[in-house]
Amino acid sequence: MADHLNVNAGSRLAVQSLIWNGDSLAVLDQRRLPETLHYDHCRSASEVAAAIRLMQVRGAPAIGIAAAYGVALSVLAHYPRAGWLDAVRADIDALAASRPTAVNLFWALDKMRDLLAAAPAEPAAAAAELAERIQRQDIEANLRMGELGADLLGNAGAVLTHCNAGALATGGYGTALGVIRSAYRRGGLRNIYAGETRPWLQGARLTVWELARDGIPATLIADSAAAWLMRSGKIDWIVVGADRITANGDVANKIGTYSLAVLARQHGVKLMVAAPSSTLDLSLSNGNGIEIEQRDGKELLADCYLTPDSLVGAWNPVFDVTPAELVSAIVTERGVALEPAVNGLSGILP
Ligand code: MRU
Repeated sequence: MADHLNVNAGSRLAVQSLIWNGDSLAVLDQRRLPETLHYDHCRSASEVAAAIRLMQVRGAPAIGIAAAYGVALSVLAHYPRAGWLDAVRADIDALAASRPTAVNLFWALDKMRDLLAAAPAEPAAAAAELAERIQRQDIEANLRMGELGADLLGNAGAVLTHCNAGALATGGYGTALGVIRSAYRRGGLRNIYAGETRPWLQGARLTVWELARDGIPATLIADSAAAWLMRSGKIDWIVVGADRITANGDVANKIGTYSLAVLARQHGVKLMVAAPSSTLDLSLSNGNGIEIEQRDGKELLADCYLTPDSLVGAWNPVFDVTPAELVSAIVTERGVALEPAVNGLSGILP
């Protein structure tokens, strides 16, 4: 069996997970990838909130962008009826309750809330414009991070990534996968390893698919193979995204990132975190205050033989926090923070 996937290499277009149509939001259903490329059309804020909760759309920046469009749909539905602003605020609260860990969600909702508080003359148009700008600026940030991250990788020949921090998880292009895309196009990067990312399999179902779709070869590993991969001297860097980065440089990301960070330190491998500045949460001094989402244990038990009434439960935290001292670099569109535990975030703060 070939150890490289090369599916649909003819396509050069990065996939887009969110497409605004003026009065609806097309959401690529990531639960059905890679078998089926299907867009659902959300026409209300509650449909967008459900799409986030059910992980049709996932990945921190994409969650924030979807929520911004959800607010735009809410304004379209309620304005100019009496009490429209209260109805929109209730929708914003519902969107905020969809998932807890990615700070990009709250960042985007705050921006939409502030816009409406400023009483624009045409609220529906203004809300849609802002949501589109948030998506556009996220893509621009990704492209910039791609270049900065590729600079940092230098002539590294191989990297490991975790989860999916690609076009699917962002406005387009990707954070960690943006860095990998840019470095690959420069020609130095020869091997891109992707961990499966159990239990939801973002790596196995999304990352290798997304890369292969762009003609970028990838090698899938079981999550449990990461230590041995590092021990074999096969990778120079781990490159991941983030759901929240606190003021001291602690990083919340997909469960398993912390394990990789510990292993990386043991094996002399460096850890790069690529994230837009909308992922910074400077209101938290460290990662202890980050709410870690717990999802239904069924996500773990689904594939095993146990019946639902068995005595076996499941513990399913879907994020973890990597302490700043295990992070080699945080790359944002504003710049790079090297060794954040030593140097702080001054390189990327406004
Ligand atoms: O549960 P998910 O799939 O939403 O988790 C996604 C991640 O952990 C990503 O690494 C993170 O959001 C960064 S995406 C650019």
